[in-house]
Amino acid sequence: MRQSTLLNKAWWFKVGFDVPDVDSMQEENYNSVTLPHTVRELPLNYFHETDYQGLFCYQRLLTSKDLRERKAGQRVMLDFEAVMTYAEVYINGQLMISHKGGFTPFSVDITSALVDQGINRITVVVDSTERPDIPPFGGQIDYLTYGGIYRDVHLRLVDPVSIKNIKIETQQTLARVKGVRVQAMLQDSLHLDEVVAVKFELLDNENTMLAETLVNGYSNQILDAEFSNLIDLQLWTPEQPVMYQIRCTLASSTSNDIYSDRFGFRTAEFTTEGFFLNGKKFKLVGVNRHQSWPYLGYAVGNRAQRHDADLLKFEYGMNTVRTSHYPQSKAFIQRCDEIGLLVFEEIPGWQHIGDAEWQEQAIVDVQDMIERDWNSPSIILWGVRINESPDSSAFYRRTNELARRLDPTRQTGGVRCIESSEFLEDVYTMNDFIHSGDNILLRDPMTVTSLAHQVPYLVTEYIGHMYPTKRFDQEERQHEHVMRHLKILDHMFADPVISGAIGWCFFDYNTHKDFGSGDRICYHGITDMFRLPKHAAYAYQSMLSPAVKPVLHPVTVWARGERSISGAMPLLVVTNCDYIEFQYGDQQVRRVYPDRDTFPNLPHAPVLLDQRSIDPAELGEWGLAWASLSLRGFVNGKQVVETQFAADPVPTQVLLTADDYELSAEHKELTRITIAGVDQVGNIMPYWNPVVNLSVTGPGRIVGPKQIALNGGMIGSYIETSLSVGDIVVTAAIEGFAQQQIIIEVR
Ligand code: GAL
Repeated sequence: MRQSTLLNKAWWFKVGFDVPDVDSMQEENYNSVTLPHTVRELPLNYFHETDYQGLFCYQRLLTSKDLRERKAGQRVMLDFEAVMTYAEVYINGQLMISHKGGFTPFSVDITSALVDQGINRITVVVDSTERPDIPPFGGQIDYLTYGGIYRDVHLRLVDPVSIKNIKIETQQTLARVKGVRVQAMLQDSLHLDEVVAVKFELLDNENTMLAETLVNGYSNQILDAEFSNLIDLQLWTPEQPVMYQIRCTLASSTSNDIYSDRFGFRTAEFTTEGFFLNGKKFKLVGVNRHQSWPYLGYAVGNRAQRHDADLLKFEYGMNTVRTSHYPQSKAFIQRCDEIGLLVFEEIPGWQHIGDAEWQEQAIVDVQDMIERDWNSPSIILWGVRINESPDSSAFYRRTNELARRLDPTRQTGGVRCIESSEFLEDVYTMNDFIHSGDNILLRDPMTVTSLAHQVPYLVTEYIGHMYPTKRFDQEERQHEHVMRHLKILDHMFADPVISGAIGWCFFDYNTHKDFGSGDRICYHGITDMFRLPKHAAYAYQSMLSPAVKPVLHPVTVWARGERSISGAMPLLVVTNCDYIEFQYGDQQVRRVYPDRDTFPNLPHAPVLLDQRSIDPAELGEWGLAWASLSLRGFVNGKQVVETQFAADPVPTQVLLTADDYELSAEHKELTRITIAGVDQVGNIMPYWNPVVNLSVTGPGRIVGPKQIALNGGMIGSYIETSLSVGDIVVTAAIEGFAQQQIIIEVR
């Protein structure tokens, strides 16, 4: 029976690599580290992208304690979830595997190199340079790929015959009577070619067994099982993402093994009439996501990964995410499965196609991505082109053919930015950056494809570099930023052919010098690097039903002189309410309805307060008194939300919050803290940027600087646990204000 344990603790790390390192360790050159690990912690911006690139060496001793559960004859496997970018794994000086590519998992059987008695040395040599033989490198890419063993490593003990992977396909998914087909891929490490029996069980989410079947075969085979006549099983939907499980139990004369994976019953189909989820038309609304964080790059652990999925769905109201431009962590995808967030996953790349060896690696990436994630119900499309690359007929015929062969249940897409590109996929996925403020919002699909007929069509990026906007930018720019997001979404909702639109992008990200604002940041997010919202984030939040969360978000700092020529009109109020009431100072209350003239197609149109609802002169002129503002939102005639702005905001309170107040001591975990300065009515003060002194006691540390400044009225930071139990007390102090303290319990 397999035993799989995390092997994240007790590693040693050094910068650089010398050949003798594979079989020895000079302790003074190494630091003790816990995985996930980044080879170099970085400043927030203005660093050099080669700072984290180079050769690095990780070591770990495998002791008899690590292997105490090992039964006679068992194989010892190391499973790496990802190492950026190239890794060589040695055991006691012997090279066991070399692996190219920083986004996909790999496993290595280290049994043959282990010494039975005594201690075994694992050495992982990591090359985090942008090697031109490995996608996405060879050209210049608009993102950074931070080096290190940045995802989990597992130690797996298995019998000689084990289950390597299973593939689960649902059948008659939408019918009352459903079926499931399962394939179990066996691993016969010693080529025993023996008789095996595999019990396949179908379980519900509470682990209740619903059906079982026994299949006999040989250890070198793929075994097939079918469940039919399944009734009363529920669909996986974004609202109720019901999951089931397949558990396979293998028995042979030498081996026993158990392998399970989760899945859901759902259909996903892109058609010329849009996207259909479970047979119903469904507009995809979402953003592109990188997997990077301030300071730590990629090495944040699973809690932070999951938190991103939660933010997208619950906080920002989206139903879809694209894992631009590579497969992202299993923890993120699994969270998307659990919460019903749809995923477009794609292979690593960015504009450049390399030589034959490079292309072979991209083919391997297609296979590794699909075989890792084919049971995830959240994934609705495989991206099998290099993002925004030119046409490459032979190469893309292969990626498409492979994806369809491995997974006939999902369509392929391939993201491009050129028109009339060769259409080899099932879905024409287009980055449409046509809109520049006063022209068309999105291209017409037929013009883009140049085909004589409609094809399934999805917009996979928009806005991004066409309108970079900082969270602390001036109000008029923020207004325009939000308007562009809303207008493009409105257009997408109106066009029956367009399946959906996925904006560029979730959060600002560190990038190469050739992109971004010169400080190594692309300010393209609807949130900043800490995932703190810009006004545009509320454009998406307003898609939520008011029953889930009433949204009333005015895009303003509410001041007489913030905008050119002065005044706060037109005032965009992003909302999902039926109407709002507006009161300036003690003037009369005005009821204003969503602007259906400008936004006829959005599920919830914003309110645009302009001369149609209020004469700007009524707010007075330059030099006259400025008054407070009160806004109330109504649904079904009832007030559900209210917001106010003071005419004379003054710093009143410092708020310190954490995303999590309970963390686990089992793993290294990361949680975000947020420090905000608010005025007398509780609003963030966008131009209050005092210094914050952060400190912690207990089993954790502050990631990044301990002295930071609010930026745009708030700032994020991170607390990382240190594997001990206790209370982390976090203190934030701003001179002149009561210091704030929170306690994060580590269990
Ligand atoms: C796209 C690209 C993205 C990002 C974006 C900026 O062309 O696919 O990765 O660079 O532009 O707007």
